[in-house]
Amino acid sequence: MTTATLSSKELMALEDKYGAHNYHPLPVVLARGEGVYVWDTEGKRYYDFLSAYSAVNQGHCHPRIINAMVEQAKTLTLTSRAFYNDMLGPYEKFITEYFNYDKVLPINSGVEAVETALKLCRKWAYKVKGVESNKATIIFASGNFHGRTLGVISGSMDPGATKDYGPYLPGIQVIQYNDLAALEDALKDKNVAGFMVEPIQGEAGVFVPDDGYLKKASEICKANNVLFIADEVQTGIARTGRLLATCGNCSCEKSCGHNPEVKPDILILGKALSGGAFPVSAVLANDDIMMTIKPGEHGSTFGGNPLACAIAMEALKVIEDEGLAENAMRLGKIFRKRMNELVEKSDLVVLARGKGLLNAIVINDTEDSKTAWNICMKLRDNGLLAKPTHGNIIRFAPPLVMNEEQLLDCCDIIEKTIMEFEA
Ligand SMILES: Cc1ncc(COP(=O)(O)O)c(C=O)c1O
Repeated sequence: MTTATLSSKELMALEDKYGAHNYHPLPVVLARGEGVYVWDTEGKRYYDFLSAYSAVNQGHCHPRIINAMVEQAKTLTLTSRAFYNDMLGPYEKFITEYFNYDKVLPINSGVEAVETALKLCRKWAYKVKGVESNKATIIFASGNFHGRTLGVISGSMDPGATKDYGPYLPGIQVIQYNDLAALEDALKDKNVAGFMVEPIQGEAGVFVPDDGYLKKASEICKANNVLFIADEVQTGIARTGRLLATCGNCSCEKSCGHNPEVKPDILILGKALSGGAFPVSAVLANDDIMMTIKPGEHGSTFGGNPLACAIAMEALKVIEDEGLAENAMRLGKIFRKRMNELVEKSDLVVLARGKGLLNAIVINDTEDSKTAWNICMKLRDNGLLAKPTHGNIIRFAPPLVMNEEQLLDCCDIIEKTIMEFEA
């Protein structure tokens, strides 16, 4: 079947009829992407202000990443881990040096990496910490989003993600996000093995914790012999203006992961690890933790495949070569300044928050209102694609290859749309 002759309406009808209804997409059908832009099937161009939930940090179809992908795809795509392949070792050396860890466990999607981290943490609890068999607990933070598997949603408080999927995985306790006293209290239980946290909660609506929260939380974990596990699937890889959101205010010139404010015991990456070209994720840790998993105790047919290795290496090189963390930091400041001016001007926008190019505005309406959705529909009409998250919050996360002129153009579109909406 050729799709070239089908209209947007017809393509949406196909998804509706033949696909499971587990998403509620904005009605726009995209057919092409390049850099910060995407085009619909009718040829209309939009700024992408979601970047596939921060997977396309390097911009759509980055020529270097696509070239690495095509070249490797012509050579060798999958061997499984039954055999060695000539890309995995070089990739493992590259990524562990890039993020300064002894070892990486390569896997595919974000949630698989989170699951892997949970298993690794439990393994460490029994083999190193000495927790009694089957008693290990992992602490999650309220408002979290770590993906969709049964294990991972067992730590979710979102009824939309959990309802009618029970029974859930035991051994998970949820405490308040951004609450150090709650963490300290929870860690009094000697069966606690790890604390799983997003440095900024993206899906929840871009909640930035208090300054010093992550550093102090990691210190509390260290003092209690508990692993500090950072889920940087969305915040990592330059999105928040640093290589990692846990980097803090280091002044490292190259990869600021070399000098982090907080060094997670387990670091989880996904999404932009491939620049959006392919599902690639990773769990990084030092030997004392990673070496607790032995041959045959965890794996995936596709994890560490040569195609993923080639793509991820190029995607990480692009981040560094193009200074995308610095760009995100600089443009993020300009963006929030403009959004804060909008907060002053408009009754509809009550708050702007974020770090780097992971930002959100809060709309002056109830959580179950349609206002944020309706604003996103108008933004679409005006040439910018964004999506509400949790009712009245709109997340703004453009590709990090955006330039200042484009960003200002986007700020104008957002401002014009909001003002039109108020009129
Ligand atoms: C912080 C975080 N962790 C994990 C995931 C899950 O990633 P994936 O959808 O690739 O499974 C996401 C996805 O949005 C995320 O934001």
